[in-house]
Amino acid sequence: QGRAGESGALTGRRVLVTAGGTREPLDPVRYLGNRSSGKQGVALARAARAAGADVTLIGANLQVEPPTDVDLITVETSEELRDAVLSATATADVVIMAAAVADFRPRSLAAHKIKKSEDGTDPVIELTRTPDILAEISTHRARPGQVIVGFAAETGDATHTPLEFARAKLARKGCDALVLNEVTAGAVFGQDSTAVQVVTRDGEVAEATGSKDDVAVFLVDTVAGIAASTVI
Ligand code: CTP
Ligand code: CA
Repeated sequence: QGRAGESGALTGRRVLVTAGGTREPLDPVRYLGNRSSGKQGVALARAARAAGADVTLIGANLQVEPPTDVDLITVETSEELRDAVLSATATADVVIMAAAVADFRPRSLAAHKIKKSEDGTDPVIELTRTPDILAEISTHRARPGQVIVGFAAETGDATHTPLEFARAKLARKGCDALVLNEVTAGAVFGQDSTAVQVVTRDGEVAEATGSKDDVAVFLVDTVAGIAASTVI
């Protein structure tokens, strides 16, 4: 027996992990971004490697050091992320979409820095939807039996719990499992500890709490279980 996480459960498997948060350029010096640090995704890449997998990590603006024993592809925008994911899924047995992907990007990229106007009018930024990468790779599987895992940070509202939103999202995206983070007033982003619920297509819910590294080991074990029960 090795240390926790060194299970060999993914030996011989190819795992693709996306991590971090995309940035959508607005002009040559500005972008629309999000608060994802990449901690959870990087922890997942490390845990998958420790479990014996060959790991490709697609990192979008990582705020933490990636492991050195994985293949690292660095991207900035959701478009670059999509291109990198679409090419890397061809050889992946498992895909874990931990990256926070922009839902919208500025419709146009200003060629010059946006300046304050002389007449005092405020600029209006027009946004357009980005493609849903997770839904795309889940609907058109690059390989039969590929295991695809999504992430969702949810708050719930007056009529729906976070878990209900997560179940609906799992069905809508068509992935095999969805990792739910309940977001309460700034928790999760950049933090070392986290609490997740993993929802699978059979309706089962598994829970894990602890450091992002502990949770990553749990998630890798869960994914290995799904992969083992799937013919790859
Ligand atoms: N995702 C993606 N492409 C996008 C947006 C999200 O692949 N354009 C992926 C994320 O990496 C994550 C999952 O989809 O694994 C869920 O992201 P989330 O933002 O919760 O889902 P959305 O469909 O964007 O829903 P919402 O309107 O709640 O933001
Ligand atoms: Ca979103």
